[in-house]
Amino acid sequence: MDYLQINGGKKLSGSVKISGAKNAALPLLASTVLSSKPIVIKNVPNVRDINTLLKLLSNLGSKFTFEKNRVKIDSSCISSTMANYDIVKTMRASILTLGPLLATFGHCEVSLPGGCAIGQRPIDLHLKALEQMGADIEIKQGYVIAKAPKGLKGATIVFDKITVTGSENIIMAAALAKGKTRIVNVAKEPEVIQLCEVLSDAGVNIEGIGSDEIIISGTDREKLPMKNFSVIPDRIEAGTYMCAGAITNSKITLEEIIPDHLEAIMTKLEEMGFSFETNKNCTTLLPAKKIKPSEIITTEYPGFPTDMQAQFMALMTQAEGVSIVEERLFENRFMHVSELQRMGASIMLRGNSATIQGKIKLYGADVMATDLRASSALVLAGLVAEGTTKVHRIYHLDRGYEKLEEKFKGLGADIVRLKE
Ligand code: EPZ
Repeated sequence: MDYLQINGGKKLSGSVKISGAKNAALPLLASTVLSSKPIVIKNVPNVRDINTLLKLLSNLGSKFTFEKNRVKIDSSCISSTMANYDIVKTMRASILTLGPLLATFGHCEVSLPGGCAIGQRPIDLHLKALEQMGADIEIKQGYVIAKAPKGLKGATIVFDKITVTGSENIIMAAALAKGKTRIVNVAKEPEVIQLCEVLSDAGVNIEGIGSDEIIISGTDREKLPMKNFSVIPDRIEAGTYMCAGAITNSKITLEEIIPDHLEAIMTKLEEMGFSFETNKNCTTLLPAKKIKPSEIITTEYPGFPTDMQAQFMALMTQAEGVSIVEERLFENRFMHVSELQRMGASIMLRGNSATIQGKIKLYGADVMATDLRASSALVLAGLVAEGTTKVHRIYHLDRGYEKLEEKFKGLGADIVRLKE
């Protein structure tokens, strides 16, 4: 297994190009099941989760090539509707094949994703919504067996909780349903919006895109003439590099971003004393005279994203004062805390709230990654820690960060990937 070795204490400088968004590319690749023709998708990040979903789709019969962040895919030749456990267990977002397979073929068998390090992560809201659209859902030997032999029918779906992949599954299912589907309390993340825009460009009538209530007029199982498109930039990767600049109090530039998608993150960094020079699709982070403490409550978009909570917690160890983090979306998303404490951080946990004392000197140590975003927080801490930090089990990082050590090296970090 690989690990990252980081010698801390160096300032960063220069610029970093942000990749396409993993969490946009995943539903968009799943949506190709709905397409009547092959399409080309640009700016797809070459990360493990993407390759896992491509493998799953090819097991179902899709044909694809993936070179230089460009996927050419033809899912119109899918012949199987069984998404098996071997692949689904490695990436829970495989559940995004459920909606499109059921809508297109009238049946499918998708392995239950199971929980993960950050929480139990049920899919009850996905299944309840599909039943409301006329599907017959059965759970058997760890698989969701879904049937809708006469196709899905439009319904009014009110999500009890805002669910990103739940919204995406139902949006894709509704695109081929008969009649209108109204989704209330739909997720508004930029990744969900791009999925709506791509389906709309393929001729699906969707009203209210970007609001918390959308109405989708389905094509009654007529497959979609999907058009080529480019994946939006990854706002969480961008936020992670912003925190790298912030924790080392450096001036760095991020290229190929959509600033609007980063508003909650940039506002929080400004509250902590940093500032930005932003133009169309790039921004420069300017160092803070003094890093101020802050308070974070994670919530759905456009609020502060849960996927940035761990990275900010690392940054807060360098703020001069006491910061608070409240994690409201997942029940176990503080796995990075014990690893940060091993580096010298002073963090107290009480339920879903963490109190971070700053400014604390961090010391390099051997630490272990547990989930995608927690791993990135350990890399950030290593950048500012005195001495050498080794981040183990970085397969978690490889799921969602493209060319991570190359990009950090490009910013001047002393980081190298080594074999255990
Ligand atoms: C998506 O996960 C993202 N993954 C996650 O990013 C992100 O952390 C999360 O949204 C929240 O923003 C992808 O987009 C592939 P949810 P998802 O359904 O859709 C509960 C990363 O780092 N819930 O919005 O699985 C759930 O337990 C990953 O890239 C139900 O109770 O999250 C959670 O408490 C990590 N029943 C809350 O809703 C359901 O049926 C939000 O979950 C579905 C969800």
